[in-house]
Amino acid sequence: MRFGIIGTGAIAGHHAACINELEGCELVGVSSTSGERARQAEEKFGVRGYANYQLMMEEARPDIVCICTKSGSHLEPTQAAAALGIHVLSEKPLEVSLERADLMISVCRESGVQLGCIFQNRFSPDYVQLKHAVDQGKLGKLLMGNAYIKWFRNDDYYKGSNWRGTLQGDGGAALINQGIHTIDLLLNVMGCVQDVFGQVRTMTHDIEGEDVGMAMLNFENGAMGTIQGSTSFWPGYPERLEIFGEKGSVILEAGKITAWNVQGMDSPVKPEQQDQGSGASDPMAISHQLHLAQFRDFVSAVAAGRTPTVNGEEGRKALALILAVYESSRRKEVLPVK
Ligand SMILES: NC(=O)c1ccc[n+]([C@@H]2O[C@H](COP(=O)([O-])OP(=O)(O)OC[C@H]3O[C@@H](n4cnc5c(N)ncnc54)[C@H](O)[C@@H]3O)[C@@H](O)[C@H]2O)c1
Repeated sequence: MRFGIIGTGAIAGHHAACINELEGCELVGVSSTSGERARQAEEKFGVRGYANYQLMMEEARPDIVCICTKSGSHLEPTQAAAALGIHVLSEKPLEVSLERADLMISVCRESGVQLGCIFQNRFSPDYVQLKHAVDQGKLGKLLMGNAYIKWFRNDDYYKGSNWRGTLQGDGGAALINQGIHTIDLLLNVMGCVQDVFGQVRTMTHDIEGEDVGMAMLNFENGAMGTIQGSTSFWPGYPERLEIFGEKGSVILEAGKITAWNVQGMDSPVKPEQQDQGSGASDPMAISHQLHLAQFRDFVSAVAAGRTPTVNGEEGRKALALILAVYESSRRKEVLPVK
């Protein structure tokens, strides 16, 4: 499989590392926003750098492009790729509005190309154990699910970027950029949310988006839940996912099972499993191993003509919930999730 990368900032390095490690895959071109940045990217990634993604796709002819641009610029390169019959693996969040995310989904469907959304924590071995146990009914009826993402980002993190924390570029801040990974896991285990009451505020940073947010959730299966997310809680704590059922409960911190109390089922934790890191206080402190697992899934889906595990519709779910939290906070009302 021939890969192109569009957007050559922080996360693009993880994508390049995955492509280099995957057998039968090669990086054939990268594109950035200016000639100067394209030249820097050429040096960094060792392949031809373009200042224009359209030209990169036409000349380098990748089979798959990774979209690593700012969150509010995932749609346009996706449309351009789909028009050329190129499969798309987009970073999270899919986009910053449901309208734009739905356009990504529909253009890929109509063009017959696969669309994947990176939510690498879905591939964490400990999370997979939890999901399997829940799907097998081992926790019994689900009662409550909580996602806590009490992270920290300093002022430089936002000041050093022209898009982070902005409504147009990021769609918000702490929930849509950082919290979304754990919120995606919460939804993947607990199922869809029926309605939500959210409150978000900007308390410690000079940004448009929220840096402290919380939400009360009613899931369609009758369970309840909460979300607490922030980038203001110094020094930043490992994110936590709590799932409580009638027959037991499981807690994950930074992707590792820290409590497994399930009636009649021993903990499947294997202590030798690799530490996958947490972005609690440093966005780049995550390893690329989980990205690699998701790349494997996406490449095998493209090769087999099947839908990838985290396709566009899956990627849309956490975005829809977070946007409903924002809207609920604005209107001070309990709202359904679209
Ligand atoms: N999965 C994860 O854990 C993870 C971690 C970090 C970032 N991300 C996501 O990756 C995306 C990029 O984040 P980042 O931290 O790498 O950002 P960044 O600011 O470091 O890099 C973004 C890059 O995109 C380029 N760009 C912006 N708009 C463009 C356009 N229209 N066309 C071409 N290039 C464009 C910029 O020049 C820059 O090189 C975001 O959506 C972010 O949410 C995901």
